[in-house]
Amino acid sequence: MIYLNGQFMPLEDARIPVLDRGFIFGDGVYEVIPAYSRHPFRLQEHLRRLQASLESIRLPNPHSAAEWSRLIHRLIELNEAGDQSVYLHVTRGVAKRDHAFPVGVAPTVFMMSNPLSTPPRQQVEKGVGVVTAADNRWLRCDIKAISLLPNVLLRQLAIDTDCVEAVLIRDGLLTEGAASNIFVVRSGILLTPPKSNLMLPGVTYDVVLELAQADSIRCEVRAVKESELREADEAWLTSSTKEVLAITRLDGKPVGDGKPGPMFRRMYSLYQDYKERVMRAPATA
Ligand code: PDD
Repeated sequence: MIYLNGQFMPLEDARIPVLDRGFIFGDGVYEVIPAYSRHPFRLQEHLRRLQASLESIRLPNPHSAAEWSRLIHRLIELNEAGDQSVYLHVTRGVAKRDHAFPVGVAPTVFMMSNPLSTPPRQQVEKGVGVVTAADNRWLRCDIKAISLLPNVLLRQLAIDTDCVEAVLIRDGLLTEGAASNIFVVRSGILLTPPKSNLMLPGVTYDVVLELAQADSIRCEVRAVKESELREADEAWLTSSTKEVLAITRLDGKPVGDGKPGPMFRRMYSLYQDYKERVMRAPATA
């Protein structure tokens, strides 16, 4: 079951006019929210980021946080899987093709939920390979925009070289992955770039930093040089669907000793414990 403009319906029945600005211009924003045992993970944080994305593209939020929460909980209820990945998407609506904003047009609101597929055991235990690539995206990577062509091309570059992700470098500095944030461990210190217009402020990124600080892991949120990435003892990628995953190969070379490191194993277990706590919390509407 999906949600489209006020109604829940089977996916097969959903129809969008071809003049939707999401289709024509990629003029819209989205969120991906994992739900564990039917409990949306960090819902308020995702809704705050949605609000920020909408404000950045000057599109009024069609729903209050309470309305979004009710719709998301209902969508989760209507779908079978215990663990789900909720995708929500707001576009500037349907109008004659013209770059300028249309006047008096209602936004299109779409949500779907798929079974959440977190990384398979083998990837968690062995880590994954990534390729580096020049970050050739625009300068508003903090907006979770549906226009993802550069990210699509970069992710495919990774797949074509048997890797799971492309790690992006701009002006000699690490930014993020094609669809993830990146952490580096050097001499026992966890490093990650600060939030800026050059990366998406990841909800998982925040969780990892909070868990690290609560566990007295030394963290430095600062510009990370490409050379620091290449000489890392460990590197991780984080996202709502990949959670925390060790990067064990970078451009075909091992990261550290080529195995998920001790700091990764610690963070992985802190993250799983945190998820358990979220799942045990009473569901709120
Ligand atoms: N992507 N950076 C980019 C460019 C992303 O697309 C994502 C997430 C992240 C991680 O953000 P979070 O921890 O809030 O998931 C960072 C989602 C999962 C997607 O597009 O499917």
